Amino acid sequence: MLMDAQTYDDEAINVNAPVYAYYAVRILEKTGIYRGVCLDVGCGGGYLGLALAPISELSFIFLDQSADMLGCAEKNIARFALRDRAQIVQAPVQNIPLADSSVELIVSRGSVPFWDKLETAFAELHRVLKPGGRAYIGGGMGPPGLWDSLQQKARHFEPRRGYRKPAIPRRERGVYEQALGTAGIRGFSVSHSDDGTWIEFGKAVGSAGHNR
Ligand SMILES: C[S@@+](CC[C@H](N)C(=O)[O-])C[C@H]1O[C@@H](n2cnc3c(N)ncnc32)[C@H](O)[C@@H]1O
Repeated sequence: MLMDAQTYDDEAINVNAPVYAYYAVRILEKTGIYRGVCLDVGCGGGYLGLALAPISELSFIFLDQSADMLGCAEKNIARFALRDRAQIVQAPVQNIPLADSSVELIVSRGSVPFWDKLETAFAELHRVLKPGGRAYIGGGMGPPGLWDSLQQKARHFEPRRGYRKPAIPRRERGVYEQALGTAGIRGFSVSHSDDGTWIEFGKAVGSAGHNR
C-alpha cells in the first residue's frame, strides 16, 4: 500500500468521497447494470461500492487481499448501514473463491496497477462474470482538478494533513490489451483519458465457465 490502511481510509471517506461518487455514476451509466451482485475488486475500504449502493439496487462482494483494508471495509459497511447488502472476501484477484458466472457487475478502482499475473487476474474476473455481465476496472482521480481541490480544501481545515499525490504505477495501454487478449477476452476496450485509465469488457450471453 501507498500509506497505512487507517490513513488511506480516513482520506477516502472524509476527503475523496466525491471521486468515488463520480465513477459510480459513470459505471452505472456505462454498464446499465443497476441490480444483481457487484464484485468490488481490490476494494480497500469499499469506497466504490459504498458510492454505488445509494444509487442502485446492487448487493456487494468486497474483495481484497489485505486484511487491514478489509477491516476498514467492515467498519464502513456498518457505518453506511449496508450489512444486509454486503459480504467481504479476502483473496487475491488471481484466485477468486467464487463460482463461475456468479456476478452481474465487476468494478475496481485503483487496484489494477498493482496486480501481477494480469492475464490470470482478467481470466478469473471473466470466469466469475455472468453471461450478459460487465466489468469496469481502472483508476483515476476523477475529472481534472477534483482530487487536487479536495486535498487542498482538506489541508485548509486540517493544516497538518500532508499533501501527497499518490505514486501509482502506470502501465501502458498495450500491456492491458495484451493481457486481456491472452486471457481470451474479446470485445474489450482500454481507454486513457484525463480522468484515468479504464478497462471495460463483458461476457457474451450464451457463454459459461471459461468460454469467452
Ligand atoms: C490503492 S488501493 C485502492 C483501494 C480502493 N479500491 C480505492 O479506490 O480507493 C489498492 C487496493 O488493491 C488491493 N490489491 C492489490 N493487489 C491485489 C490483488 N492481487 N488482489 C486483491 N487485491 C489487491 C490492495 O490491498 C489495496 O486495498
